[in-house]
Amino acid sequence: MSVFEMEKQNRPRLEGIKKADVCIIGAGMAGLNLAFLLHKSGKKVIVVEAETIGHAQSVHSTAKITCLPGFFYHDLIERVGQEEAMKVARMMRRALAKYADVLYHHQIDCDFERLPFVLVSQEMEKIEKEAKAMTDLGFQVKIEKQGKTALKSGSLLILDNQAQFHPGRWMNEIAKGIEIFEHSRVNRVENHEVFTEHGKVQADQIVFCDHYPFINFPGFYFTKMHQERSYVIALRNVPRERSMIYCPDNPIESLRFSGKTALYSGFSHPTGKGSDEVIKDMKKRAKERFPEAEVIQQWSAQDCMTLDNLPYIGRFSSMRPFWYVAAGFNKWGMIYSMVSALILHDQILGIQNLDAEPFDSLRSIVNTPIEEMKQMWTAVKGYVQEFLTLPELKIEDLAEGEGGIVEVDGLSLGVYKDMDGTSYMVSTRCPHLKCQLTWNKAEKTWDCPCHGSRFDRFGNRIEGPAEKNSIFINKVQQKQTD
Ligand SMILES: Cc1cc2nc3c(=O)[nH]c(=O)nc-3n(C[C@H](O)[C@H](O)[C@H](O)COP(=O)(O)OP(=O)(O)OC[C@H]3O[C@@H](n4cnc5c(N)ncnc54)[C@H](O)[C@@H]3O)c2cc1C
Ligand code: FES
Repeated sequence: MSVFEMEKQNRPRLEGIKKADVCIIGAGMAGLNLAFLLHKSGKKVIVVEAETIGHAQSVHSTAKITCLPGFFYHDLIERVGQEEAMKVARMMRRALAKYADVLYHHQIDCDFERLPFVLVSQEMEKIEKEAKAMTDLGFQVKIEKQGKTALKSGSLLILDNQAQFHPGRWMNEIAKGIEIFEHSRVNRVENHEVFTEHGKVQADQIVFCDHYPFINFPGFYFTKMHQERSYVIALRNVPRERSMIYCPDNPIESLRFSGKTALYSGFSHPTGKGSDEVIKDMKKRAKERFPEAEVIQQWSAQDCMTLDNLPYIGRFSSMRPFWYVAAGFNKWGMIYSMVSALILHDQILGIQNLDAEPFDSLRSIVNTPIEEMKQMWTAVKGYVQEFLTLPELKIEDLAEGEGGIVEVDGLSLGVYKDMDGTSYMVSTRCPHLKCQLTWNKAEKTWDCPCHGSRFDRFGNRIEGPAEKNSIFINKVQQKQTD
């Protein structure tokens, strides 16, 4: 459970037919920031949320709002050129300023704090290149060749006046006055209509802020994004440092404080391909760095990664000019949620914004870096893996409390064996696009390496893009011995 859990408000479920100028699907940071801006500009907005507001990735974030999302601008200039990179830099600065502006004008109590953001790395050359790129794009940065932070020592790139906040409190505050329906999963969108089990919204414009668009065609976002899981442990008794620290070296590590609590996070890996030892490894490192520290909470969550390290913001598909999308925040969704809110606000109101161009959701992906393309092959490999191999593992090989893909009567099945020895069998075909699920030993879940859907040990859906549970096949009681 995250330290940023928020008060639940018991909002109504969508029933019957409602009408709006704009219907937003998903009430995370992206959906709510956009709803807030559109509402302030006089649009009638309806937000439809599958569960409760903010409950998904946004409340599990460590909520650093920064214009410096890791090593970013040097590569960006190399790929898109100085002029396009300048547009990105301007949107990042505008988004950060917008947070401060909303906070000031609406007196939002959410522990918003201005702090330096410090990038620490062993790679001095990369730090220097990033600093040069940022300076060329109008940022004021400082470098320390041999610097020290609470997290680790190395070369430092420092960007002052960034921010951190309590994302749960922010979302609860900006949601006030907006028409939001909770416990209303959207299961179909057709032209101008958004359908849930018990109702529908008719809207001029529809925006997908559902983290991973649950509609596959048109849009084809499943060919352009995968997901990565990251982990957080909350610690007490860590000497407070007045900065947010981020180390992009392998493994990625990050540290920020929330009052007396230190949030140590990172250790990301593609969903479905993690090590069982992540949390253990994090705790070991935390103990080495902060010998007095005591772990008070831990959690994990995941975010969508794009092919070129920029989010997809704009039209959902050229076939649906009145549908929009904000997705693929590459683990920097606090700043990008506001970038997307500003861009989509302008597009929906017909305001020209040339700085939106590099984020265009329909951009060509021909310049995609090779590493990102490799990640997309995971999806293809996931498709065929199941058909090419039959597992060697049998049910009897599984220890109690363990799961895995086993061979049962010539079939490949996912089996979890509980502490009584009862085995629960599920199909390992992901209901999204049929990739093979993998067993996540650390979290006892079935995870999809293709696009990051997750299911509990009994096959119940935890998170999408899959909309359904995995098929539960059978429950087998342990044989009684004489
Ligand atoms: C551990 C961790 C730490 C992070 N730290 C940072 C950080 O320091 N700074 C930063 O900038 N970013 C950070 N991020 C990234 C950031 O948290 C995410 O990018 C951001 O929260 C994504 O917001 P969202 O609104 O797109 O998604 P979500 O918060 O997941 O919201 C999407 C909503 O859509 C709803 N939904 C989905 N499908 C449907 C449907 N069919 N019908 C109706 N509703 C639907 C969901 O229920 C959910 O509420 C971190 C991420 C992780 C995992
Ligand atoms: S096939 Fe897409 S999430 Fe599993």
